[in-house]
Amino acid sequence: MESRLQKSLAGLPLGGIRYLESTGSTNDIALAWAAEGAPDFSIVVADEQTSGRGRLGRKWFTPAGTALAVSVILRPGESERENIAFFSGLGALALVDALKNFGVSAKIKWPNDVLIARRKTAGILVETVWMGLDVESIILGMGVNVSPAAIPPETELNFPATCVQSEARGPVERFDLLHALMVSLVKWRPRVGTESFLREWQDSLAFRNETVQVWLGESETVSGVLEGLEADGSLRLDVSGAKRLIRFGEIHLRPL
Ligand code: BTN
Repeated sequence: MESRLQKSLAGLPLGGIRYLESTGSTNDIALAWAAEGAPDFSIVVADEQTSGRGRLGRKWFTPAGTALAVSVILRPGESERENIAFFSGLGALALVDALKNFGVSAKIKWPNDVLIARRKTAGILVETVWMGLDVESIILGMGVNVSPAAIPPETELNFPATCVQSEARGPVERFDLLHALMVSLVKWRPRVGTESFLREWQDSLAFRNETVQVWLGESETVSGVLEGLEADGSLRLDVSGAKRLIRFGEIHLRPL
């Protein structure tokens, strides 16, 4: 498996590759490797995660042989440090771009869940390592449901889910998808924070012009029409004619 991975990623400007048959969380391995000095654009890939982590303290399932679990270690350059907030969109945008190679039209549930046919197919967990006031590294952890067996049981879901294989035109080989994802990351990374990046992120948003409910924490929610993104990557809602900007939250479609 490892040599197949090396072969499919040959030619990409990666800092290093670590492959694990089974691990707790690739983000944890990446954080430890970053602390030991991993070079920029190194990746950790696992076939199975036994304690994969999601956003907001949730669990993320990665059963063996079914999904893509990858953590990318980025060492941001000076100009990138000013655009840290946009890195949450980078992984999602790169994945949406990569999925086009498989005939799949995906959308982004702001800030960075990837949906196909309005169902969650991938999640991204961005973890930032600070050194004083500077960002030392960013861990872009991406989990993609590739085959149906990657989809967690209904009782574990807080949003409807699907997988790439169910929506793609032909068979999807995990490492081919990983290759396409890395190519897209290389393409989009230099554009982080630019107008074209923001436009593409906005154009890829799910539920545009629909009424959504955004969960803001503990017990606060706001409902409004999803208009688009602000220049700083915040989400813009129209709440009964007034603009409301959301910096951090999670979209739930408002039940009819
Ligand atoms: C979410 O939707 O809540 C984010 C899920 C992120 C999952 C990926 S899988 C690879 C990396 N390792 C982890 O433990 N989490 C991320």
